[in-house]
Amino acid sequence: PRGGRIPDDEKGYKLDLFCVPKHYEEDLDQVIIPHGLIMDRTERLARDIVRDMGGHHIVALCVLKGGYTFFADLLDYIKALNQNSDKSVPLTVDFIRLKSYCNDQSTNIVKVIGGDELSTLTGKNVLIVEDIVETGRTMETLLSLLSECNPKMVKVVSLLVKRTPRSSGYRPDYIGFEVPDSFLVGYALDYNEYFRDLSHICILNENAKEKYKV
Ligand code: IMP
Ligand code: MG
Repeated sequence: PRGGRIPDDEKGYKLDLFCVPKHYEEDLDQVIIPHGLIMDRTERLARDIVRDMGGHHIVALCVLKGGYTFFADLLDYIKALNQNSDKSVPLTVDFIRLKSYCNDQSTNIVKVIGGDELSTLTGKNVLIVEDIVETGRTMETLLSLLSECNPKMVKVVSLLVKRTPRSSGYRPDYIGFEVPDSFLVGYALDYNEYFRDLSHICILNENAKEKYKV
């Protein structure tokens, strides 16, 4: 599968074209994916997912925290499809919390730090909803944990996939956009918990990496 390709030399949009919280103005270089474009792409992902998985009850599994905004918006679009067509699928939700990042570096250890028992997913059609795939380790770890619980079907949708030499080669089933190898924030993607309260996806500048370092 391919997503919309954001090229490496993408100039993006100047911050002052859109509404960006005042407290982040100094931290961002440009808007790389405006909120409206995220929504338009998400609407189409919802349609593709319902087309492929629509015969069965879907359990949407949100990977917290970064996935929560995308999860909520994607589910709204799936709900809209359910409400407005002759065919519809029951949708239930579940949450898992994983952590693999410190500052702007992926660590080798992926930890599950909360959420329901995965065993509730046995025999279900599971749609994992993730914000971004970089090395692929988080998703590979989650998929192997999940497979121990014998779900009937597992599909993965990630809003973003980073083009990076650090990739394990893992590709999700559905991809919103393929993005350059920069650290991205906004739309629930964070840097040490900051920038989740920003609607657009932006590139973090070097000053900000220092400013919000832990
Ligand atoms: P992976 O295990 O290397 O594929 O990393 C995936 C996780 O790292 C994602 O779920 C994110 O939480 C986080 N991550 C990777 N790249 C970024 C980024 O550019 N901005 C914010 N979080 C990121
Ligand atoms: Mg994540």
